[in-house]
Amino acid sequence: MNRYLLNSAQGEFLFVLEGEPEAYFAIDKSCSYKIIPHHVKREGNEISFVTSSFMDATLFAELTMEETADGMECKGAIADYGDVSGKADFYDGMTPYEEMMESRKKKTVVAIPKRSEEEIQEKVEELLGKMTLKEKIGQMSQSSGEDVSEIGDKIEGKPMVEQIKEGEVGSIIYIGYSPETIYTYQKYAVENTRLGIPLLVCQDVIHGFQTIFPIPIAQSCSFDPELIRKGASIAAKEASSAGIMCAFAPMLDMVRDSRWGRVCEAPGEDPYLGGQIAEAVVKGYQGDSLSEEETVAACLKHFVGYSACEAGRDYNTTEISDYTLHNMYLPAFRKGIVAHAAMVMSAFTFLNGRPVTANREILYDLLRGHLGFGGVVITDYAAVKEVGVHGCGKDNADVVKQVLDASVDMEMATSYYNYCLEELVKQGLVPETAIDDAVRRILTLKYRLGIMDDPYRYIRPEEAEALIYSEEHLKVSEKMAEESIVLLKNNGVLPLQKGKMAALIGPFADSKDMLGAWQFSNYGEKSVTIKEGMEAEGITFQYEQGCFPEEETEHGFERAYALAMQSDVIILSLGETSGTTGEATSKCNPCIPDVQMRLFEKLKETKKPMVVTLTNGRPLLIEAIDAQADAVVETWFLGAQAGHAIAGVLSGRISPSGKLSMSFPRQAGQIPVYYNHYNTGRPNFGTNDRFTSRFLDETNAPLYAFGYGLTYGKTGVANVRLSKNQITRDEKLSVYVTIENTGSNACTEVVQLYIRKKNSMYVRPVKELKKFERADIPAEGTAAVLFEIGREELSFYTPKGECMAEDGVYELMAGCSSREEDLKETSFIYHQI
Ligand code: NOJ
Repeated sequence: MNRYLLNSAQGEFLFVLEGEPEAYFAIDKSCSYKIIPHHVKREGNEISFVTSSFMDATLFAELTMEETADGMECKGAIADYGDVSGKADFYDGMTPYEEMMESRKKKTVVAIPKRSEEEIQEKVEELLGKMTLKEKIGQMSQSSGEDVSEIGDKIEGKPMVEQIKEGEVGSIIYIGYSPETIYTYQKYAVENTRLGIPLLVCQDVIHGFQTIFPIPIAQSCSFDPELIRKGASIAAKEASSAGIMCAFAPMLDMVRDSRWGRVCEAPGEDPYLGGQIAEAVVKGYQGDSLSEEETVAACLKHFVGYSACEAGRDYNTTEISDYTLHNMYLPAFRKGIVAHAAMVMSAFTFLNGRPVTANREILYDLLRGHLGFGGVVITDYAAVKEVGVHGCGKDNADVVKQVLDASVDMEMATSYYNYCLEELVKQGLVPETAIDDAVRRILTLKYRLGIMDDPYRYIRPEEAEALIYSEEHLKVSEKMAEESIVLLKNNGVLPLQKGKMAALIGPFADSKDMLGAWQFSNYGEKSVTIKEGMEAEGITFQYEQGCFPEEETEHGFERAYALAMQSDVIILSLGETSGTTGEATSKCNPCIPDVQMRLFEKLKETKKPMVVTLTNGRPLLIEAIDAQADAVVETWFLGAQAGHAIAGVLSGRISPSGKLSMSFPRQAGQIPVYYNHYNTGRPNFGTNDRFTSRFLDETNAPLYAFGYGLTYGKTGVANVRLSKNQITRDEKLSVYVTIENTGSNACTEVVQLYIRKKNSMYVRPVKELKKFERADIPAEGTAAVLFEIGREELSFYTPKGECMAEDGVYELMAGCSSREEDLKETSFIYHQI
């Protein structure tokens, strides 16, 4: 017997020690969470394993179990659950997985009827008509899978199953780690509530589900929306086979401040690129129709302006003019909405004096009215509670009234709707019709997803097994990683010369911390490190860690120095840990930690050529590295196959092709620094002219500009030709750009087209990206790219949100980065008639 049940203060733990060991935590007999053991060791009658936290893969806990005559003696802890020491008894029942498989066997397969939108609406009305007010309100609540219900200071212990049974839960997050966990909750909801309405299972599927792709800021550097779409569709396939119906992505917050930790989740600083990515991710997740079982609903977030938090400090105050809101922060959301994203998440922050979550002007007038969003609006985590913390609302009921009035359909994590809405309706302070509208939208989504017909259609364990972390998925992740790498500097040391000995050094050289923030993969241990990648690539090298990412110890400095002295070239892998990127990881000085910089300085003393690879989630301040290293390779967090992609670039098998989607500041004091800034009335052109817009102690230019990135070719714009020099409202201008490569390596370039409009009614940025395309260019050859420009590309928004394109001369700039020196300029005239 290899099954043991432990009753601890936390709840019941079931350990299955046959084959690949499994562990489950059960709140009560009906619902349980799966825990994934790693590093399983068996010695005699002792078995030990490590578990990592769902929220932070770098947090571990260890458990040792020793077989005794009548069970197992457990000693240690399980990450996320704490101490589980005690005696476990033999168990001869089924595991939740086996129960799921058993009960699925008995189930008849339900064919999802293809319903028109009218038929769905009829079904929704029919169901709505049967629902009590309490049941309706329950649909508007999303539980975070915890055994508490929370309103204000009142946090009540209440098992999840009880909340479900009492009809207080319409949706759930953070249970998406195993299909059997989802299955047990779903079954419970269907079988133990009066109307049996299934739960909407949501999860943060941000850059992959089990097969992890590069972090979003890295992906955006590929300038390859089609590949990004493909990556999202793989994430959807994996997630939807394992029970998840809705992904809380894409994050569409435009970013200009690398102090903010969440830039790793963003599509960069450009609204056009952001829009292309928005469309790609929504299409990738949702496919052609939500009713297809391999798709999940996408949720655009965080509406709106979250990334404008002052000083890059997470959750901080935001100040955004209407002009900037419409032209900078909204375009990507527009694109996501046009692509039919099913959900939108409201931001934590406040705008125009009111928390966004309770802001009718932002959510109702702007999002639903102006942008035409008809789907489900959900709050961010506990954002209803935070309305009061912001300082708004007379009391809890008043907060709820405001949030509903803003047209928020679903509350995440707290229970304000459950506690207050019924009473507010009874008192006549809130119309029941507003609740009906919200529930209509939620039920419509549930019908569109098909779960009203088959609540278990997203749980397909056999399929999940076959496709999760499959070779095919890993290949796409690797391709995405290759395209996301940005070569920032290269004085010729790269690609590495064959036969030379490299010294691979640094805390990220053999690190599994390659996946980045916001991922919950069970396969983290399989991530390919740089060292593993270099071995597979056949690069000749020796390795020494040198130091840890953050710990102030120089334990390996001397060994690293000695190794470097015996080698021809140093590859130094520096960076920040994934735990210091993502939510709530703002940094005043986004730098490489001191100890790593000291290692860098030490190795510089060897005077050997040095390549620095960077593993990080945001543009870091790397002026010293740029000044002294021979090559700098930005590798972000590249996901499951990181090491192969990096080694491929180092060896020259792959010519780097990524371009920065976000400018790199020289110093924190320059932030925000971005390419699409305005001219100002006193522009500075790099001179010391006193009364111009500049710093006395630093240039205005970033260290590396948006759109910048080197290849192994030698490229430049040979020619820009226009089909005409004037167009009218309904005409298109064809722009033919010829890129030449005078180098001896073939490469792929991202050809970029920018416009500028002077003599306008409104000041426009000095440059705006309007088109881009990846082009393969042979060695000593050329490539031609055709762009079409028309009214849409010339349009912008007034502060009132009116879309307009002004008559007059437009400058057109084409090239392989946004830097002046990389662009060739021409112009044309646009007039309405
Ligand atoms: C808070 C984050 O801001 C949001 O992006 C995420 O989707 C939710 N938590 C749920 O995890």
